[in-house]
Amino acid sequence: MSVASSEFRKVTTHSLREMKERGEKISMLTAYDYSFARMLDAAGIDVLLVGDSASNVMAGHQTTLPITLDQMIYHAGSVVRGVERALIVVDLPFGSYQGNSKEALQSTIRIMKESGAHAVKLEGGSEVLESIERILTAGVPVMGHLGLTPQSIYKFGTYTVRAREEEEAERLKRDAHALQDAGCFALVLEKIPAPLAREVATSLSIPVIGIGAGSGVDGQVLVVHDMLGITHEFHPRFLRRYLNLYEEIGGAVRHYVSDIKSGEFPGPGEQYNT
Ligand code: KIV
Repeated sequence: MSVASSEFRKVTTHSLREMKERGEKISMLTAYDYSFARMLDAAGIDVLLVGDSASNVMAGHQTTLPITLDQMIYHAGSVVRGVERALIVVDLPFGSYQGNSKEALQSTIRIMKESGAHAVKLEGGSEVLESIERILTAGVPVMGHLGLTPQSIYKFGTYTVRAREEEEAERLKRDAHALQDAGCFALVLEKIPAPLAREVATSLSIPVIGIGAGSGVDGQVLVVHDMLGITHEFHPRFLRRYLNLYEEIGGAVRHYVSDIKSGEFPGPGEQYNT
């Protein structure tokens, strides 16, 4: 197989495991719509997460709690239509899986049937193991999420770094192993100390994707609106902005408004004369 064709092989949960085994880092971004998903996929991203951060960056809510299962399915279906290569993972939103494992499975089945995505992600450790096991019985791959879990923001009270204290770090390590043993194909670690994240990634055979968890993990994920500088009032230490689209788009729109006001737009070549 040529390099070009292997680059365009569809990414699967299996290929992510192979990437970890050969030490190749995994790239992951969030996506919520068709147009962005197309661009990110064509640029070679390995995993697209239809994150419940859509609640913040698409809908303008303060937390991820308000977004509904129907809304997640709408975003996920839009992403699926834009993607040829990336693995598409969808967040189970708050309230769609915590009740019991049957509800978790029903929510997952709706996501898979109605959007065409490839896997789901849910937040939590030992308290969600039964749900994970039940989802796996339906043949749906599950990604875990530990550390800062934004759906529990009212329990934590802040978005600061998690697991700095030994007791919480030990619990996180136990949970990480329990998620792997339950059958999760990968794990997100959010906003925890880098040495702890490295230790977890090294001790697990499944890929560990970090956000604010340092460089010792198997891959990285960022919220695409943060990474492209569309959001501009959010400055966590872990965030690297690759563009400042807030300014770029603002500049383009100011230019457009001014061209309309001055009569510069449309020009003679931008109209139909017959
Ligand atoms: O919803 C989301 O964007 C996420 C990432 C921060 C991992 O869960």
